[in-house]
Amino acid sequence: MQAKKIRPDRLPKHVAIIMDGNGRWAQQQGRSRIEGHRQGVESVRAVIRAAHELGIPTLTLYAFSQENWNRPKREVTELMRLLERYLKSELEEIAEQGIRLRVMGRTERLPETVRRNLASAIERTEVNQAMELVFALSYGGRQEIVDAAQKLAHEAQDGRLEPDSIDEKMFQSKLYLPDLPDPDLLIRTGGESRVSNFLLWQIAYAELHTTDVMWPEFRRAHLVDAILDYQSRERRFGMTGDQIRGKVR
Ligand code: FPP
Repeated sequence: MQAKKIRPDRLPKHVAIIMDGNGRWAQQQGRSRIEGHRQGVESVRAVIRAAHELGIPTLTLYAFSQENWNRPKREVTELMRLLERYLKSELEEIAEQGIRLRVMGRTERLPETVRRNLASAIERTEVNQAMELVFALSYGGRQEIVDAAQKLAHEAQDGRLEPDSIDEKMFQSKLYLPDLPDPDLLIRTGGESRVSNFLLWQIAYAELHTTDVMWPEFRRAHLVDAILDYQSRERRFGMTGDQIRGKVR
């Protein structure tokens, strides 16, 4: 049990998670990597429920990266199957909890069945406002930036955009989900301290929390630990500590 309590007035508005360690967790137990992903789905369920209960407005999960397409075909197929099964079995609970499901990534690469399930889940939960749940699927941060640059280049070529007018706000408007607030807290499980091409534009000022806990074992208590760690930090956004604390203007 954590001795400290979460301060509800200082909750991160957006928590993003790199769910790592499924394969290693399974191998440590003499089980197949797929078993690790299956157990990882349990953590996905638990963490969504916990984030919703804690009042986190936005949760983004890195469920399948652009680079994950290079994994053995069998593993990719199984991950897609898990995703499809998850969408079918959880939609009801997600919808009832008032959660809005969204996706970001080059989703056109996903199998037709997954795309269909995603489309209906997105449509069904579109008006929900209790929490925004974003699955990053077939997602890469560099690819997202390239895609945004292409959109701007096309507009400039068509004469609809003056290149000198491009600023951060305009660039942001061409990202996959432009209205998504930047993550305040980025969690990575599985003992590594890498960003792995996740939300490169959006994490400019995110607080990073890494843990040795493998994703299949990550539960509410670990999310609470990460939030407590976040709440112990002083976020300065390039300013001095005194400025942030309001002593100096
Ligand atoms: C990283 O573990 C995890 C993934 C590549 C996929 C994450 C997928 C899930 C948690 C299950 C499906 C998701 C949903 C939303 C239903 P890894 O295999 O890279 O682990 P390793 O680093 O130990 O090999």
